[in-house]
Formats: sequence, C-alpha cells, structure tokens
Amino acid sequence: MEDFHPLNRPLRGVVTMTADKSIAQRALMLAAIAEGETRIDNLPATGAVASTLHALRTMGARIDLGDPAADGSRPACIDGWAGMSIDFEEMPRLHCGDSGATARMLCGLLAGAGMSAHLDAGEQLSRRPMDRVLAPLLGMGVGFDSMRFPFTLYATNQLNPVFWELPVASAQVKSALLLAALGAQGESVIREPALSRDHTERLLRAMGVDLESTVMPDGSYELRSTGPATPDASLLPQPWVLPGDPSSAAFLAVAAALLPGSDISIDGVALNPTRIAFAHELIAAGVDLQIEYETEVAGESVGSLRVRCANSMPQYAPLRVEAAQVPSLIDELPVLALFATACQGESVFRSVAELRVKESDRLQGIIDGLSTLGCHAWLDGDDLHIAPGTPTRSATFDPHDDHRMALTWAVAGLCFQPTKVPGFDGIVKISFPDFIDRLGHLA
Ligand code: S3P
Repeated sequence: MEDFHPLNRPLRGVVTMTADKSIAQRALMLAAIAEGETRIDNLPATGAVASTLHALRTMGARIDLGDPAADGSRPACIDGWAGMSIDFEEMPRLHCGDSGATARMLCGLLAGAGMSAHLDAGEQLSRRPMDRVLAPLLGMGVGFDSMRFPFTLYATNQLNPVFWELPVASAQVKSALLLAALGAQGESVIREPALSRDHTERLLRAMGVDLESTVMPDGSYELRSTGPATPDASLLPQPWVLPGDPSSAAFLAVAAALLPGSDISIDGVALNPTRIAFAHELIAAGVDLQIEYETEVAGESVGSLRVRCANSMPQYAPLRVEAAQVPSLIDELPVLALFATACQGESVFRSVAELRVKESDRLQGIIDGLSTLGCHAWLDGDDLHIAPGTPTRSATFDPHDDHRMALTWAVAGLCFQPTKVPGFDGIVKISFPDFIDRLGHLA
C-alpha cells in the first residue's frame, strides 16, 4: 500500500503491538555471549532484528527459530558461547544491513568478546556516523583500519576499561561501551548528558552484571560497570518474552488522537520511562491517554495505552519538548511534529540536531514534508518550531527509505489530506511490518 486517504471515521478497538526491536536486538546479542541456552519469545519479524540475527550467526552463534505466529513473530533458542574462543579459518565478515543498532552494538560485543571481524553495511547506514562508537573503543585498545564502513575491527585480549563522556545521549553508543566493558579489566565509567533508553542496563542486571547508575544533579547520567558478578565472569541466561514496541505504538496513538470519536487500546506495550515520553507529551497537550501498567517482562514494565478523542476535535495545547527529554522520544519526534500542526499555538522541540543523523535527515524531512502539506515548520538554531495549522494539501513523499518518516506521512494521509508514500510496505519492514494489519483491526 502506498496511497493513504483520510479515514473520516474514528479508530476503535484493541490491538497488541509488534515486539520492540531495540529490546529484541539486545536480548539476542546478550544471549549469544551468555553461559547456556536462552529462550526468547515473540521475536519480531522486522528487518532490524533480521540484521542482528544474520550478523550473530555469521559470528558462530547457534540460533534456532521456531514456527511463526500469525504476525510472523517467532520463538528463538540461542546457545550462548560464553567467552569460548571460536576459531575461524578466516576473519568473519559481518554485514549489518542498514541497522545502526546492530552495527554499533556489535562493535562493542566484538570488543568485549575479543573477536576480530570485518564489518560492512548497506548504503544508508554507510552514510551514518560510526566514529561516535569507534573512538571510545580505540581508547580501550581496539584497532580499526578505517573509521567508516567497510572496516576491520582488531580485538585485543588486553582491553582497557573505558572512561567516556558521550557528547550526545545515544543508547546505541552507551550499549556498545557496556558490552565492551564486559571484557575489560577494571571499572568502566560511561556518562551521557541525559538518560537514553536503558534496555541494555536492565537486561545486563538481570543476567548478573554489577552496574551502578547515578543521575547527576545536572541531569546527566553515569554508569559504572565492573563486568559480570559471577566468579567465572559469565552472563546468566534468562528467558525473555519481548514486550511490544512503544515507538510503533506512537503512530497509532497519534492517529487516534487526531480522529474524532476514536477509542483504542494498544496492549502489550513496553512502558519503560525512557520510551514513553511521547505519551506524556500527548497527555500534556490534552490528549485523553491513559497508561495502564500490567506486568513486568524482561525487566521492563508492560501494559497498555488507551487513547480516546472526543466527537468534536479537541483544542490541543502546543507541545514544548525540552532538550533533556529528547533522547526519550527521539524516534517519535517526526509523528509528534505532525501532531503539533493540530495544536492551538506554536510548538517547540529544543535541541533536536540528532535527527539529522538518523536513517535520513529527519529534521529536513519534517520541515520539507510539512511544507509540502501546506503547514509551516522552521528551525531556530537546533530548535524545531511548528506553527498551528493542519495540512491543507495532498502530497507525494520521498521518505528516503526511512521507516519513521514513511509512517508519519501515512498518518498524515489517514488523518488530514491524501498522501502517497512510494515503497511504503518495503520501507516499514524495518520496524513495523504489520502497520496496515494493525490499523485494519482499528479502522
Ligand atoms: C536505538 C537508539 C536510538 C534510536 C534507534 C534505536 C537503540 O539511536 O534512535 O532507533 O536501539 O539503541 P541512538 O542511540 O543513535 O540515539
């Protein structure tokens, strides 16, 4: 599907969410280096997870996938190699596809496991920065023949602990350094200016790793790691049931908030505070959104998001997103920017330059896309401003192969004016392959 037309009717009903790709990728990587067998339930059939699976298998991980459920998700059994040295006749060649999380976290995993490898990536990922993760690894004693794809990572068995302050909060870089620190002698210290998603920390703790975290008075976040707590220094496998992806849920939540008369419940969503800041922003704008906590899975709170919209379009207050909140809603910014056009006043998103280095330059994509729809968005330094006024024109978009932009312009078409998003089905496979199916349950 690539043509999206205004639904002109409410969304109603209950859906469960496709599992979260961030948690899935981490669970797979940690299972691969754990001591013994791990079962992961609900592994999503997304492109990002396929990239992680492919790379781990090339590294020698034994991963069995069970029969797929109706949504394509599958159980996985991973036989961890627990620090065993795997003898390769040739250095493994790992292709990370276009998955930034796979590539960046894998560098840390390889460094911590003392494994050298060639790494390559698709055209889109090859344009994105890798020095943010390679520079601190260099400081730990890892070697690289290039700071861009393709490159060879030369591991060392004399890995130094890391002491690194991230200039920009990044869960991928933080996670890579935590994985590398597992193989270092001594205490590693990692600081980020604001807390980014903390799934790696939660999984590592559950697997027996001693991790101390402190939120500093200035809001920055510090982690201290001395590696696995067991005497033989291995990670303890845990059974994981993966919760649903809040970033994907955001598209349905915004659509429901923009379609009068809607009443939807999105179930089985990970409610980690570092992931649902978008929901709190929508609530602050006046959206009738309830967060209902139900259970704990994989160290994560899980529950539902219920979103209702009155029969006549509510008067939403403008969004005001401060810099410290940005890491917790980084992936939801494009769809929040679209929502902002329906607010009664100018919305501001502070310090969002990081959007420039995602799968596409999302900052430019938002400004250009909204302008094509007849809306007004502009930059003041690194702050994004959106004027009130919903789309007045239909448009065809080039989503630059970026799943979150493609989904944002689909929501624009479903809620405001017709849109065309060429290549939509292929592009959204990376994170939300069943968007159309989930929407069908509600529309
Ligand atoms: C991710 C972290 C974020 C996010 C990306 C997934 C992760 O990237 O944008 O979609 O799984 O750790 P950064 O770490 O570059 O901020």
